[in-house]
Amino acid sequence: RKPLRLALLGCGSVGSQVVRLLREQADDLTARTGAEIELVGVAVRRPDLQRDAEVPRELLTTDAVGLVSRGDLDLVVEVIGGIEPARSLILTALENGASVVTANKALLAEDGSTLFAAAEKANRDLYYEAAVAGAIPIIRPLRESLAGDRVRRVLGIVNGTTNFILDKMDTLGSGFAEVLEEAQALGYAEADPTADVEGYDAAAKAAILASLAFHTRVTAADVYREGISEVSASDVASARDMDSVVKLLAICELRDGPNGPAVSARVHPAMIPRSHPLASVRGAYNAVFVESEAAGQLMFYGPGAGGSPTASAVLGDLVTVARNRLNDVRGPGESAYAQCEVLPMGDT
Ligand code: HSE
Repeated sequence: RKPLRLALLGCGSVGSQVVRLLREQADDLTARTGAEIELVGVAVRRPDLQRDAEVPRELLTTDAVGLVSRGDLDLVVEVIGGIEPARSLILTALENGASVVTANKALLAEDGSTLFAAAEKANRDLYYEAAVAGAIPIIRPLRESLAGDRVRRVLGIVNGTTNFILDKMDTLGSGFAEVLEEAQALGYAEADPTADVEGYDAAAKAAILASLAFHTRVTAADVYREGISEVSASDVASARDMDSVVKLLAICELRDGPNGPAVSARVHPAMIPRSHPLASVRGAYNAVFVESEAAGQLMFYGPGAGGSPTASAVLGDLVTVARNRLNDVRGPGESAYAQCEVLPMGDT
């Protein structure tokens, strides 16, 4: 069978781990997919940068537009992050017939509908398991496994960096700046860690989770947001005195609105009793609780950030999308969304 041709957009902490896994698990991936996945190009801004994994120099290019426009790609993985140029590159990739895997929560939360509509039009897959909670499978469970149930509430710790910081402040009494540097060195933080610290990253993930859980369109702008920059060492100490911990929580709920069911989504620091399962989520781990009518309570738990865990989720999507490609089918699209009202932020 002809190899599937893959282009990678971005080669930072996630991208370089994708390259490593593609190389190390090439035989397994071929066996599971049904065809070899051939990496034909890697778009980067700085080709001379030292990377975590050995990336063949001849594959590196600074011409991302040229790469996604070449017309012979089957698969594109986007791990650049941010809105532009990621959005234009994904749209061009879809228009040129490639299926896309992305980890880009900011873009999906801001303008997911444009991307999903483009995927629909091109009859191609757009998968994004890595966009929320790193390695933890949560997109597929919400989109597929729970599609026959009625989700009422999603509650989670979905930002590894802030959980890492709050955890260290709690256990070691460390200072904020010092812990943030450590989180950055470990590859957990966003390029601009303000997105983590001020809750923008968690708000983007909350928007994605709420959209899937409640079959509607929630954007990042619909999510009430407060970060952890105002959380002081004495707040953490007071929580400890009350046998509690401070966590940054994302809370997405279905409520009774004036015109029927309505969605509310918010992200803010919260005090949680140490006896609560969420209190034991340590370091850069994430956890997502889902409460649904028929299934009851479900908890998803695991590494929520970092190059290798996030690359695991990217590779999982890549195998699925590649299989779909070979069978000439698409996975579930995002067009069947019954519009359910999204409550304004003030009503959360
Ligand atoms: N900066 C993010 C976090 C990475 O800390 O959770 C994973 O999306």
